[in-house]
Amino acid sequence: MDSERPLLMLPGPSQPSEDVLKAAASILPHYGPEWKKVHEETVELSKKLFNTSGEVILFPTPGFLAIETGLVNIVTRKEKFLMCVNGYFGETAVKIAKTYKRNIVLLEKDYGEPITPEDVERALEKDKDIEAAFVVYNETSTGVMNPLKELGKVFKDHGLLVMVDAVSIFGGAEINMDEWGIDLCVGYASKALGGMPGIVPIGISKRLWKILDERTNEPDTWYLDFRTWKKSIKEMAAWGHPHPSSMPTHTVMALRETLRRVIDEGLENVYKRHKVFAAAFRNAVKAMNLQLAAPEEYASPTITAVRLPEGIPKKLIDGMLENFNVMISGGLGKFAGKIVRIGHMGYTARKAPISRTIAAMGYTLKTLGLDVNVDTALKAFYDSLPEK
Ligand SMILES: Cc1ncc(COP(=O)(O)O)c(C=O)c1O
Repeated sequence: MDSERPLLMLPGPSQPSEDVLKAAASILPHYGPEWKKVHEETVELSKKLFNTSGEVILFPTPGFLAIETGLVNIVTRKEKFLMCVNGYFGETAVKIAKTYKRNIVLLEKDYGEPITPEDVERALEKDKDIEAAFVVYNETSTGVMNPLKELGKVFKDHGLLVMVDAVSIFGGAEINMDEWGIDLCVGYASKALGGMPGIVPIGISKRLWKILDERTNEPDTWYLDFRTWKKSIKEMAAWGHPHPSSMPTHTVMALRETLRRVIDEGLENVYKRHKVFAAAFRNAVKAMNLQLAAPEEYASPTITAVRLPEGIPKKLIDGMLENFNVMISGGLGKFAGKIVRIGHMGYTARKAPISRTIAAMGYTLKTLGLDVNVDTALKAFYDSLPEK
């Protein structure tokens, strides 16, 4: 790692490893036999993380544009669409869906609260015409992981088409599209996987892939409509161009490298590593006498949001960067100025980067006048780790 660069303990982008950066160091043309092989392998590896027997599209965009494509494909303007919101990223998805005049029914919870199966049951009881649903698996703005498996069961029992924003958890916790009844799942490369920004794997169920063929609505967009992508796959996959445009081939090669790595480590081991280090980090935060934004039962394995007194978040972020070269981030939406958010994902869901973060955080908070003991916080962290 380049020691001049800050350690990225952000909710994204996350710290890439040297091997990932090396994998992105050359450019391939976005067609032809060599690219075809890279593309196919990346798609197949992504399917293992999504647990889908359907399709995966590698979408060359930032996360929100991938969410936008999901929202224009999961429903047309006609079907009633339940959108579950408990933070900034859910709110933004609603704004996008409104732009495309989707027929939205809102289920809203406060920042820091989870969406529960009971909430969904109640919403579906109230409105029996709902045909599809959206939820953010890991609300990056609050550190709440919504109970997707349990929510999926309710959605499935009601026969809904389901879209999930898994941007900040793809590669950091289990997703099972086939078993949990998810039709469209948006992943990400440069958060829990530690790849490079610019490419977003999107899982699509067999059911939705088929429904797309039967749709007769006028497209709202050319590029984002999956029917355009289906046509490219059908007509151009044979010569290694299964997409309608050029591709950032270097970021796909970095993504392939991260996918190979997590499969080699074993997905169960990777998910467990994220869970263990997240819990240990939370214990360190509690030992600093600070309050977490998410209830322990729904705490995210990839990011932690910490409540702080007014004026402190910015000073903490600046101080940690200035003195320790560690980058963390602030609050969004209703939590702006009230919290800090720390990402511990992919490469940084490990002992050394988290230890450095705790030391930096504890020391800086102490200098800002808070009652924090760095030794106690570090001890709480190490004591929470399983013995080797
Ligand atoms: C849950 C979630 N959805 C969507 C996005 C948007 O991604 P991007 O910033 O790449 O557009 C983010 C980014 O942090 C996110 O955490």
